[in-house]
Amino acid sequence: MTDIEMMRIAQLKHTINLQADKVDARLNELLSRHGPFGVGNSVVADAMRYSILNGGKRIRPFLCLEFAKACGGNEDIALDFACAVEMIHTYSLIHDDLPCMDNDDMRRGKPSCHKAFGEANALLAGDSLLTKAFNVISSIDCSSNIQVSAINCLSELSGIKGMIGGQVFDLQFENSNPTVNEVLSMYKLKTGCLLVASCVLGSLSYENCSSKSRQSASDYAMNLGLAFQIQDDILDIISDEITLGKPVGSDEKNDKSTIVKFYGLEKAKEMVNEYTQKAIDALDGIDGDTTTLKEFALYMANRTY
Ligand code: IPE
Ligand code: IPE
Ligand code: MG
Ligand code: MG
Ligand code: MG
Repeated sequence: MTDIEMMRIAQLKHTINLQADKVDARLNELLSRHGPFGVGNSVVADAMRYSILNGGKRIRPFLCLEFAKACGGNEDIALDFACAVEMIHTYSLIHDDLPCMDNDDMRRGKPSCHKAFGEANALLAGDSLLTKAFNVISSIDCSSNIQVSAINCLSELSGIKGMIGGQVFDLQFENSNPTVNEVLSMYKLKTGCLLVASCVLGSLSYENCSSKSRQSASDYAMNLGLAFQIQDDILDIISDEITLGKPVGSDEKNDKSTIVKFYGLEKAKEMVNEYTQKAIDALDGIDGDTTTLKEFALYMANRTY
């Protein structure tokens, strides 16, 4: 790697950290115990805060904020959109770890929500984060057009035709023999859709964002999502629990149908690079500066956690 490339990566990491700090501060406010948004002091409020605060790479919020920038959107609106997506993502992780799903005991470097608070509270903490996300969007001080579009987009992409739909196939494909295309469709739903929501919500923070830009945001995110999930499957084999902050070997334990299982590690890595390139190509449709988004896609393809 050249000195310039190393400098660019250091700059990108700095930008990611800055955005994550902003998101953490806002999440802390939105999920404060008391005050106008207050979640209170119940054990489930504690479980919500435990799972969402101080953890996670904040990739979806980053994408939302960067697309807002690239499309000339409103930063305050995008920040609340970003927090809403992170709430939905965190709820999906809490439920994903439950014994009835992947049965994993570690998440974000800590005991999983159900290990720390019990299954019933984990279930309810996930539910509360999901409902809170839509409460946050509907409370933003902005045009109702933007709000309705955001709610429509996020509910569709996180629901049965999106992330949940993907989780359904993920479970059905345990101990079964889907085709490669079925697995890729499942990845698009379970992982790609929430990334699409993140990027499109960022662009929606600018009311007059062109449909061409929105389509590019969606294409970038879907390809990034495929690369992201295949890399997640690779790391489930080659990484370790301390680095990842979650168990390794979870896919094998559950006999999941993954791209690595089909093709092996080497071809899976090639696919990560191919989908990353497709994501980068999709950025041509955005008029604003997309340098950071391009570098981010490359950085994600080489991530180690
Ligand atoms: C994990 O997502 C779930 C997948 C879709 C693979 P992340 O790797 O973004 O998890 P956090 O938010 O950093 O914990
Ligand atoms: C991501 O798939 C699932 C979600 C949509 C939550 P995984 O089950 O592979 O995610 P990890 O590896 O547990 O984070
Ligand atoms: Mg899973
Ligand atoms: Mg899992
Ligand atoms: Mg995984």
